[in-house]
Amino acid sequence: MTELVNQTVLVTGAGRGMGREYVAQLLDRGVAKVYAAARNPQAIEVSDPRVVPLQLDVTDAQSIEQAAATAHDVSVLINNAGSVEAASVLDAGAASLRRQLETNVFGPLALVRAFADRLAERHGAVLNVCSVMAWMPLAGGYSVSKAALGSATDVIRTELTPRGIQVSALYMSFVDTDMTAAMGRPKSAPADIVRAALDGVETGEAEILADDVTRAVRTHLHRPIAERLTLPL
Ligand SMILES: NC(=O)c1ccc[n+]([C@@H]2O[C@H](COP(=O)([O-])OP(=O)(O)OC[C@H]3O[C@@H](n4cnc5c(N)ncnc54)[C@H](OP(=O)(O)O)[C@@H]3O)[C@@H](O)[C@H]2O)c1
Repeated sequence: MTELVNQTVLVTGAGRGMGREYVAQLLDRGVAKVYAAARNPQAIEVSDPRVVPLQLDVTDAQSIEQAAATAHDVSVLINNAGSVEAASVLDAGAASLRRQLETNVFGPLALVRAFADRLAERHGAVLNVCSVMAWMPLAGGYSVSKAALGSATDVIRTELTPRGIQVSALYMSFVDTDMTAAMGRPKSAPADIVRAALDGVETGEAEILADDVTRAVRTHLHRPIAERLTLPL
């Protein structure tokens, strides 16, 4: 269990969407400081002195190194930044798949690597933002990347739990942000998903299932894929 009050939290992709919502709700929960990390830190609204904008591109090793040097006091890492592209995983060169793996898998893992020692010193926590698309193969390379992130989260948990670091994965269906702006289907409010995510961190859940659709898909994971694909999203 990781109470968020008085923690120092780093949120990636904090300039918009759910990243911005994490910053707002973390402040409400009494954190000591939030490093609001974004490719363009000028996109960060500093409405509270506890918010520290931080330049961070999760696909850039030098950017991660600089962020880690600045944010030396982090106790909770929220790997929220992510990207989705509409392309077949079979496209020549797999360039789109590689880009999504860089942002959605290698980036979060590089951040965990960069911050693991200080998270361990503070008995801290990691939250990796996955997706129900990890379990529903309907989003091409994005599904591949989120499934890989979910698996990687389980793998690093076996290494980090003995070091005193809590590791959680967040799964959810569609949320009303820029990422889904073109999709005319039911979507959760970002505030509801972020509240469920932070509640899950505070209660120490390894797997945080943030909406009813995701909980239904999770209960069918043992079923054959053809049956799972009939579930409503
Ligand atoms: N929206 C959904 O339906 C949904 C459902 C399940 C899971 N998720 C996941 O939830 C997370 C947040 O998504 P969202 O809906 O809030 O999406 P969003 O509004 O599109 O925001 C994506 C965020 O990720 C940042 N980002 C992308 N690539 C980055 C990079 N290389 N380095 C640093 N930051 C980068 C973006 O920064 P810029 O402003 O610089 O582009 C932006 O802040 C993502 O991991 C997404 O996959 C979303």
